[in-house]
Amino acid sequence: MTKLIAGNWKMHGTAADLGEVHAVAERAAELAGKVEVALCVPATLIHRAVETVPGFAIGGQDIHANENGAHTGDCSADMLRDAGARVVIVGHSERRDAHREADADVRAKAESGLAAGLRVILCVGESDAEREAGRAVDVVTAQLAASLPRGNTAALRAPGLDVAYEPIWAIGTGKVPTTADIAEMHAALRQTLLAELGPDGSNVRILYGGSVKSSNAAEIFAVPEVGGALVGGASLKAADFLPIVEAGAV
Ligand code: 13P
Repeated sequence: MTKLIAGNWKMHGTAADLGEVHAVAERAAELAGKVEVALCVPATLIHRAVETVPGFAIGGQDIHANENGAHTGDCSADMLRDAGARVVIVGHSERRDAHREADADVRAKAESGLAAGLRVILCVGESDAEREAGRAVDVVTAQLAASLPRGNTAALRAPGLDVAYEPIWAIGTGKVPTTADIAEMHAALRQTLLAELGPDGSNVRILYGGSVKSSNAAEIFAVPEVGGALVGGASLKAADFLPIVEAGAV
């Protein structure tokens, strides 16, 4: 399966940063067929990023589950599509934590994104305390089972859905699980996908996220069942992000 290397800019980026988007898109076009690349930028930047690099996969970082309504400050999946986005992240731990999003909310968002024709990157991951207590695999597989979109099987069918395993304690910390721990978790997540989705579960890529850098990308990508990466800090500059993209293309 072709790997997906997706950048999550979080709350970073203005028009001054569109040059970075351009540089990433240019190299991604050269590597087409070998690796897929996406940049999930702040909602304010989606339309301008799409205009800057038509044909490149620009994404958002969240959606509201409803089509429209009295939801001050939120954007729907259709609105992101209208702005030109092709991808959306749902269930990032920073939203589960700071915005109290539960698995059922994440599931509704994932279903809404798929129904609107967006590629959905669904995030799951354990806390430091959960890993220390030896509960990581149980916690994360349960989180995935409860967050997975259901219902519209046509939309569910890959390549519409990707999962990102992001241990919370590895995000922005420079800490990374051992390759054995990544392998164990990704194998467990694959089993959950197959149990919950049937054969469609084999097509869903399982990305790893959390302190991915050019120095560790190749090692992580060599782990079985790692289908790419969701990259935060190292996605903000093309010079940092592109070596990770290149590592995903081999
Ligand atoms: P970092 O790559 O900065 O650790 O962030 C990971 C992440 O949260 C991507 O969604």
